Amino acid sequence: MSVTALDAARLRGDFPILAEEVNGHRLAYLDSAATSQKPQAVLDAIVDYYRTANANVHRGVHALAERATDLFEEARVRTAAFVGADPAGVVFVRNTTEGLNLVARAFAEPRLGPGDRIVVTEMEHHSNFVPWQMVRDRTGCDLAVVPVGTDGRLDGDRLERLLTRPTRLLAVAHVSNVLGTINDIATLTRMAHREGIVVCVDGAQAVPRMPVDLGQLDADFYAFSGHKMLGPTGIGAVWGRPELLESMPPFLGGGNMIEVVTPERTTWNAVPHKFEAGTPDIAGAAGLIAAIDYLEQVGMPSVQAHEAMLTSYAHEVIGAAADITRYGPSAGDASGVLSFNLAGVHPHDVGTILDREGVAVRAGHHCCQPLMHRLGVAATVRASFALYNTAADVDQMARALDRVRRVFGGGGASG
Ligand SMILES: Cc1ncc(COP(=O)(O)O)c(C=O)c1O
Repeated sequence: MSVTALDAARLRGDFPILAEEVNGHRLAYLDSAATSQKPQAVLDAIVDYYRTANANVHRGVHALAERATDLFEEARVRTAAFVGADPAGVVFVRNTTEGLNLVARAFAEPRLGPGDRIVVTEMEHHSNFVPWQMVRDRTGCDLAVVPVGTDGRLDGDRLERLLTRPTRLLAVAHVSNVLGTINDIATLTRMAHREGIVVCVDGAQAVPRMPVDLGQLDADFYAFSGHKMLGPTGIGAVWGRPELLESMPPFLGGGNMIEVVTPERTTWNAVPHKFEAGTPDIAGAAGLIAAIDYLEQVGMPSVQAHEAMLTSYAHEVIGAAADITRYGPSAGDASGVLSFNLAGVHPHDVGTILDREGVAVRAGHHCCQPLMHRLGVAATVRASFALYNTAADVDQMARALDRVRRVFGGGGASG
């Protein structure tokens, strides 16, 4: 299938914040893996919601309450369709982190105990690491960590050996936020399911940048954040197999998640509402619909191809220099990020000088301290791409890096 090339320079115009001048320079926003910028259509959708439909959901009998409820439930259907899932399994949460904690607390904790094992990987974000350590500490189960090789990929042999009894759950990222590694979730799921192992996927970096089809991946739980996919902060989703969600106790108690409350006991609302206690982020849901509209209009295959092109270009003009140590798979196999260190310069200093040149990158451990430990560094610089980035952003960063070299006395060129 041929993929239509997207016109990033034109799309850039849809994102008002990208017209901001930063420190006297055009803004090269290369931090979309942390959070993406938002197109005007998303901003408008949020304001329109407050202007025309604001009311609480699932409670009122009046017209506005009906509008708000319809909108919120439309967001569920649209979100499900965007990732090829059944809407009955879409639970709205604040973000990926909350989604993964929901699975850890409501699915894993009641089921696991001494003698059971959870498997995570060394490339996990703390969001998909810490909740499982907490389950281990609360239940007495084991936690095994699959190492990452120097090629930025999971150790396949170790993983295969761990996907056996007594492992009960595998928690794994679809795409690494530091390395850009894309894990083959469909294959991992097949291997895990042969042994009755449940698979929980952190999709935070995958959903914004590639077509995701949960029907094909066959994972049991899959979490992602609206704010990384052009939507607002405060809304995300965890999809769970409806029959598993049915079997789980609620995560939080309160309004909306109940069927009947008496002084003695409470019965739960139907799935997925059982997991949505309290007033949800309704305005966020309106913004999320607009973000999905935008991404669908551009087309996820085009987004993926564009980011692959920019990643290759960045590897070529920045990553190939002799004083750069790059982390992660080669460009063709890495998705949307360039992680590196510049010889003799602390990543925070690199980030600070790049900022002076209008280039926004992230410098730090990227909430992946176990991975930093494996890489033998305290931090890296990370540039990450989205559909509104162009080669001009990469060129601006390459020039800014030359400035860093001059400031720190290196003087080398970025070729
Ligand atoms: C791979 C990965 N997982 C989880 C998260 C956490 O996302 P959030 O802060 O939206 O919960 C991030 C955010 O950077 C991420 O990159």
